[in-house]
Amino acid sequence: MEPQTQERPAAPPRVREVDQPVPFTLRDGRTMLLRRIRPDDAEDLVEGFRMLSPRSVRMRFFSPMRELDPRFARRLADVDFVSRAAFVATFPDDDQVRAVGRYESDSPGVAEVAFVTLDELQGQGIASAMLERLVDLARSNGIRTFVAYVLPENAAMLNLFRRCGLPRRIRRDGELIRVELDLS
Ligand SMILES: CC(C)(COP(=O)(O)OP(=O)(O)OC[C@H]1O[C@@H](n2cnc3c(N)ncnc32)[C@H](O)[C@@H]1OP(=O)(O)O)[C@@H](O)C(=O)NCCC(=O)NCCS
Repeated sequence: MEPQTQERPAAPPRVREVDQPVPFTLRDGRTMLLRRIRPDDAEDLVEGFRMLSPRSVRMRFFSPMRELDPRFARRLADVDFVSRAAFVATFPDDDQVRAVGRYESDSPGVAEVAFVTLDELQGQGIASAMLERLVDLARSNGIRTFVAYVLPENAAMLNLFRRCGLPRRIRRDGELIRVELDLS
């Protein structure tokens, strides 16, 4: 006798946490969304770069770049959410990228993190919210250490790492400060 085949309901598609935009409240009470970066954000990254103050550009890229190369922007916007991941912050009504937080791993278990928030939105808690999201994703991808390179005068970034609650190791690396965060 043929074994009876039983029709099973299809399992619901696994909703990947990374796909869900997460609302969060700025310190001034406005709501923003944290969502995964998409390849079609590349143009916004180029535009957003033009809005940054020279100081913010230097803090992020350590040199006075004038433009974000569109090819580089395309690479930044195209990530796999495993070894390279990025989230962006947008207002719910226009979806324009106002801040980016990313990690990139090129050795097992370790990833470099970097953030940038448009000047007029700095100090509102955006990068702190991004760091939390990046930490969760990195842990689920087996990343145990975040490394960041920060200019010594970048009080905002150093503050954020000091207050994030993760064990830290800090050392001088040439002109930069190397911050290591333990996610384990
Ligand atoms: C560093 C940076 C990403 C922080 O982003 P953010 O969205 O402003 O971060 P948060 O609002 O979560 O603030 C982090 C901390 O820095 C403080 N801070 C933010 N902007 C500041 C500023 N311009 N000056 C001094 N402190 C500042 C905040 O008050 C907060 O500290 P607190 O929790 O003790 O209040 C942002 O200032 C930025 O884009 N700077 C230019 C690029 C850069 O430096 N990137 C880092 C390279 S890894």
